[in-house]
Amino acid sequence: MAEIVQRLREHFMRQEPFGMAAPTFFAELVTRAPVVHFDGMWVISAYELVTRLCTHPDVPMAAPVFTEAVHRDNPQFVRFFRNTLSVRAPEEHMRLRSVLTGAFSGRHLATLRTRIDEVVAELLADPLRAGGTEFVSALAVPLPARVTAVLLGIPPADRDLVAARATGMMHQLSAGFLTESHPEAGTPITAAEFAELRDYVAGLLVRREAEPADDLIGHLAQVRQAGKLTVDEAVDMVLLLFMTGLDTVTAALTNTLVVLQEWPEVAAALAADPSCADRVFAEAIRLRTPVAFGSRQVARDVRVGSLEFNAGDTVILTFAAANLDPRKFADPMEFRWDRPITGNVAFGHGSYYCLGSALAGMTAQSLLRALHDCLPRIDRPLADLPWRASLAFPTPRLLPVTFAPAAAESGAR
Ligand code: HEM
Repeated sequence: MAEIVQRLREHFMRQEPFGMAAPTFFAELVTRAPVVHFDGMWVISAYELVTRLCTHPDVPMAAPVFTEAVHRDNPQFVRFFRNTLSVRAPEEHMRLRSVLTGAFSGRHLATLRTRIDEVVAELLADPLRAGGTEFVSALAVPLPARVTAVLLGIPPADRDLVAARATGMMHQLSAGFLTESHPEAGTPITAAEFAELRDYVAGLLVRREAEPADDLIGHLAQVRQAGKLTVDEAVDMVLLLFMTGLDTVTAALTNTLVVLQEWPEVAAALAADPSCADRVFAEAIRLRTPVAFGSRQVARDVRVGSLEFNAGDTVILTFAAANLDPRKFADPMEFRWDRPITGNVAFGHGSYYCLGSALAGMTAQSLLRALHDCLPRIDRPLADLPWRASLAFPTPRLLPVTFAPAAAESGAR
C-alpha cells in the first residue's frame, strides 16, 4: 500500500504519465488502495464511493486554483471559471444545467447526425487517400473542434480561430498548476484575446436574437430573451462547452484506437459489424478512461460511510480506477461484450454527469463506422508511443497509423 501511494504522489507532483501501463496502475490502485489520504488530499478509487461522492451535496466541484500571475494577467479568465455552471451553488448549478439539457437532448442531437458524418468524411478524405496519417492531429483534435462548432453554430469562417482560442483557454487553465517548462504548458490565451472571444460570442447571441437558428447559440439566445439567462451566463456556457468538449473527445478517440489495437478480435468484430460501435466505444473508455480524475472540495465536515471528511479537504475521484474496480466489473481488465453500455464512470456520475456524453458517443460512433472496413493500424509498437504528460488525460500524444483493409486486417491478426 505505502509503495503504491508513494508512486501516486510522485506522479501527481511531476505530472508524469503512466503511458501504456495506466490501466495496470489504476487497477492496482483500486484493488490495493481504494481510499488514500495524504497531505490533506483524498484519492478515492472504489467505484461505490466514487459514485456516492458524485451525488453528495456537501462534496461539490470546486473552482480551480490559479497562480497569482493568472489573477494579475487574466482576471476575466479567473472570473469566468469562478462563475462557470459546474462550480455554482447547487440550485444555480441545476438551473444552468437544465438550460443545456434541452440543447443536448436526443431530439436535438439527432438533427446533428448527418452533419457529424459529413465532418468525419471531410476529415478522412486526405488521410484515406494517403493510406495513413498521424491520427491525433489529423482526426482526434479537429473532429471535436468542428463538431462543437457545428453544435454551437459558429460560422465556418471563424471556426479555426475559435478552436485556437479554445486551446489557449486550456493552456491558461493548466498554467494554474504547470510550470512554464512543462511539455503540456503551451501558450495561454491572453487577456485581450479572451475579452475579444467573449465579445465575439456575445455578438453571435445578439445576432441569433434577431435571426433565430436551430443551433445551441440560437437556443441560448431564446432562453436569454425569455429572461431566464443573462448575456454573461450565456457567454460563459458557450466557453465552457469549448473547454469541456475538445480534449476529452480527442483523448477518447485516441484511446479507442489503442484499445482496438490491443484487442484484435474486437477490431475484427467491428469490421464485420459496424453496428457494435457503441459497445466498442463504451468498453474502450472504461478500459482506458480518457478523463482520469474529477476533483471536489468538501464544503463542511461530513461523514460518508466510515470516512470523516473535513471542510476544505480536496477529494480526487479517480474515474479511471473506479472503472476497473473488480467489485463492480467482473474481469475488469478484459474487454467484455456482455457488459452494459452504461454504468461505467468515464462520463462521471450524478450531479455533474457529462452533458456532452451523447454527443461524444455519436462522434466516436460516426468515426468508427466510417473506418470499420479500413481500421487504422498503429505503426509503432504500443510501448514506444509518446504520451501526454498530463495525468488528467492518460492518452498518447501522437498516433501514426496506416489504414488497412478489413480483410487484410483481420487476416493479419
Ligand atoms: C468522450 C468524451 C468526454 C468525456 C470522457 C467526458 C468526461 C466528463 C466527465 C468525467 C465529467 C464529470 C466531471 C466530474 O464529475 O468531475 C464531465 C462533465 C462535463 N462535460 Fe464531459 N466528457 C466528454 C465530452 C464532452 C463534450 C463533447 C461536452 C460538450 C460539448 C462535454 C461537456 C461537459 C460539461 C458541460 C460537463 C460539466 C457538467 C456539470 O458541471 O454539470 N463533455 N465530462
